Amino acid sequence: MCGIVGYVGSRPALNIVIDGLRRLEYRGYDSAGVAIIDSGVIQTEKKAGKLANLEKALAERAADGIGTGTTGIGHTRWATHGGPTDRNAHPHLSADGRIAVIHNGIIENFARLRAELEAAGIEFQSDTDTECAAHLIAAEMRALRESGAQDGPALLAEGMRRVANRLEGAFTLLATDVNVPNAVVAARRNSPLVVGRGNGENFLASDVSAFIEHTREAVELGQDQIVLITPEGIEITGFDGSPAVGKEYHVDWDMSAAEKGGYDWFMLKEIAEQPQAIADTLLGRLSERGEIILDEVRLTDQDLRDVDKVFIVACGTAYHAGMVAKYAIEHWVRIPCEVELASEFRYRDPILDRSTLVIAISQSGETMDTLMALRHAKEQKARVLAICNTNGSTIPRESDAVLYTHGGPEIAVASTKAFLTQLVACYLIGLHLAQVRGVMYSDEVAAVVEKLQATPDSLRTLLSRMDDVRALGRDLRTASTVLFIGRHVGFPVALEGALKLKELAYMHAEGFAAGELKHGSISLIDDGTPVVCVVPSPAGRGVMRDKVVSNIQEVRARGARTIVIAEEGDEDVRQFADHLIQVPHTPTLLAPLMTTVPLQILACEIAAARGNDVDQPRNLAKSVTVE
Ligand code: AGP
Repeated sequence: MCGIVGYVGSRPALNIVIDGLRRLEYRGYDSAGVAIIDSGVIQTEKKAGKLANLEKALAERAADGIGTGTTGIGHTRWATHGGPTDRNAHPHLSADGRIAVIHNGIIENFARLRAELEAAGIEFQSDTDTECAAHLIAAEMRALRESGAQDGPALLAEGMRRVANRLEGAFTLLATDVNVPNAVVAARRNSPLVVGRGNGENFLASDVSAFIEHTREAVELGQDQIVLITPEGIEITGFDGSPAVGKEYHVDWDMSAAEKGGYDWFMLKEIAEQPQAIADTLLGRLSERGEIILDEVRLTDQDLRDVDKVFIVACGTAYHAGMVAKYAIEHWVRIPCEVELASEFRYRDPILDRSTLVIAISQSGETMDTLMALRHAKEQKARVLAICNTNGSTIPRESDAVLYTHGGPEIAVASTKAFLTQLVACYLIGLHLAQVRGVMYSDEVAAVVEKLQATPDSLRTLLSRMDDVRALGRDLRTASTVLFIGRHVGFPVALEGALKLKELAYMHAEGFAAGELKHGSISLIDDGTPVVCVVPSPAGRGVMRDKVVSNIQEVRARGARTIVIAEEGDEDVRQFADHLIQVPHTPTLLAPLMTTVPLQILACEIAAARGNDVDQPRNLAKSVTVE
């Protein structure tokens, strides 16, 4: 939540910061603001609403605009403390006007700090927790100066360090000082922050997409660290003041991956990228000996052989991927696998020990609920394996092993290619476990991998014939409710279809296990209620397919308008379908790689037809870094 950019160098900071914010807007779009240090003055502008409002306000400023200063910070907000107003938009200034601060996260002890500052005579200008940090940094720096310290980048860093030690909660804070041009300091605890190393210029951002246009060299920070950037260098220290070293890495994708590329929406581009994203996630995963290769493994094969239970923790779409994984892991590995909403995991006190494997799935690698579940698992001595799309993010860093999904940047708030690549990663992990534990031979594993390798082509075919689905989407734009049903791996697909529709079209939608509908929810069905039915392949699981067909008949008998997703060749199902969407054949466990895709397109089309912002649906943010 919230996107953060900082720049120091020799070029005017404003455009660099605004461009960075544009690429981070998916993280929150309740307000946006910038602070630029120019000729001994901090120039700020901030506006409620999307970045466009800020840009308009900047354009309307007097001829000198916001100046051509070469040090700047910018923020795009997902509101936590204080409503989404101009007043609460970041940056926030210290009372003496010297320090500008932006923040991502929540300062949990802010009420106490605010009371303390108010008692000292500070008048707050906003309802945010962030403003405390600005006043505190100014006070710490003042105290240091009074005891003889000189103004300069080191003093700014020390002020930030002292304040960071007083804050509780999760935060990334960036600060500039009007008297210290050419320096931006940041503090990081449990909230994302990455450094971009340029030539005579350096960057700070919530993720690399903000500066990828300028540099692909990045530095990963650890928790509880302070980083000071100047045009000349990057200096990292711990909250205790000890020097620290970040992990340098090269970003292997470029600007074009973070642009819309001719599509109306990032979501459409990302849907279209799915075949390639699957292929990339599979690339190089099978060794010459037919074994699955993970990215970073700090677990031995013996550790994996000792596993007697798997827990999958994740949120939202990633949780649905975990639900599919449960079917695959239990079927292939023959050990119990539970899927838990990460936000609930630690509260129910799950039974975990060294022989429990916890798989944490997260596109962003920063989802706070998932991170907290992971930490709880580690405290209980469980092993943690992360599935993640974001290099260098917190979740993989804190895990014992990682399998990265090579989906490339996902900008649209609604997860699409992340979901399919998470499925692929789950399949690979299931196969890896089965192989290491001797439940599957390498030729059996290779046979499944071969089927997986065929899915990008099948998906391309499917994507080339989605016109009917789009037309159907436009037709459904006025529906008041849409239900989704499925069995086995079709059940999480139904949940995912409903989630997409809710988040994008703001319509009532619900997913059900097909067999469960008759236990109560079938009473929702009225004349013409659209029901999307995910039908399993008749090959392999014929009984299950027949049961779903019976469920379709049940809803149809009650007036439902059925939208049936079934495999090509299953002609028998046609008679029960008001709309039939055919998908290429895939083995049952892999079917969600096909059946989910029409549902993504359907939701996107309905949302667009309703005039909604598909990429940035209301009330949401891409990366949910609060609990
Ligand atoms: C769905 O479209 C959402 N973007 C959301 O449910 C998302 O999957 C969830 O917030 C988890 O995010 P993560 O994968 O980054 O952890």
